[in-house]
Amino acid sequence: MISQDINQLVKALENGDVVGMPTETVYGLAANAFDESAIAKIFQLKGRPKSNPLIIHIGGLEQMEPLITEFPNQLKKLADTFWPGPLTLLLPKSVLVSDTVTSGHPNVAIRMPNHKGALELLQMLKFPLVAPSANISNRISPTKAKHVEKYFPEIITLEGGPCQAGLESTIVGMFEGSVAVFRWGALGREEIEAVVGKVLDKTSNTTKTVAPGMGKKHYSPLCPLIVTQEMWYVLSISTQKKIGAIWFQEIKWEFSNIVAHEILSASGNLQEAGSNIYQAMHRLEEAGVDVIVVERLPETSLGISINDRLDRAAVR
Ligand code: TXA
Ligand code: MG
Repeated sequence: MISQDINQLVKALENGDVVGMPTETVYGLAANAFDESAIAKIFQLKGRPKSNPLIIHIGGLEQMEPLITEFPNQLKKLADTFWPGPLTLLLPKSVLVSDTVTSGHPNVAIRMPNHKGALELLQMLKFPLVAPSANISNRISPTKAKHVEKYFPEIITLEGGPCQAGLESTIVGMFEGSVAVFRWGALGREEIEAVVGKVLDKTSNTTKTVAPGMGKKHYSPLCPLIVTQEMWYVLSISTQKKIGAIWFQEIKWEFSNIVAHEILSASGNLQEAGSNIYQAMHRLEEAGVDVIVVERLPETSLGISINDRLDRAAVR
């Protein structure tokens, strides 16, 4: 059910229920971060392995202090610059944060979302919220309330409009004394490095133990998805009856078996492309295409984050 009434969500959360929460990145499946049975419901609803930890969302810095034991200076600088915003920080957890939230890791992931509805909700509560993306595990992330409703018709989702960033937060922590990125997302490398200088890239699968949720398959539509720089070649050899094509800036070729086209950003703006990518995938899935073929984006700034999601969506 989609609701405009924030008080209804406050009541549900106080009652130990799971709700859909809008953020500027993607919608989250939110619950009281201090309520073990509410947290268990999240894992169960998503079909998420217990080994994949959850991000805690806060509405103000005062909500964070009790959750951590240390705030490294470099990470503090990032928080000062980008919070509220699409930045998640990995920080040493205090005893208040349960091992269920962090999957037994010594660090807890924390972020302050930059969304009016989310901040209002968080500030009305006496506890912070854990919130993974509000999709069934490995499926396309939700960027509209109706996407959440499609996955979880039984919960209340706060209507917060389409997500403005449309890509998950960038996850940053310390690695052997240096600032490191564990997931590229809505905040690009340039923006982070402008504040703390060069950062390590720990986003590859070899660092799975540090960012356990970055498993290969993720973000997937029900049909196969192909991401390629060679659109003409892939489209010309494709034998499927119904192809959905996602282009970066413009439709370059027409083939009789393409039944739907999506353009991510006519002006070539990667931020706009980021805000449209999941929506485009949802629309093509709903159109019932046999395969989605996506033009790979330039490997710069948010193009890196979008290509990462597409590569994972392509894993069968
Ligand atoms: O933008 C976002 O971050 C969205 C919105 C709802 O805030 N949330 C989100 O959550 O993307 P989720 O659960 O879909 O992805 C969280 C990622 C996973 O890859 C998880 O493994 C990683 O963050 N993570 C969470 N806690 C961690 C921890 N303590 N240490 C390392 N990685 C952690
Ligand atoms: Mg997710």
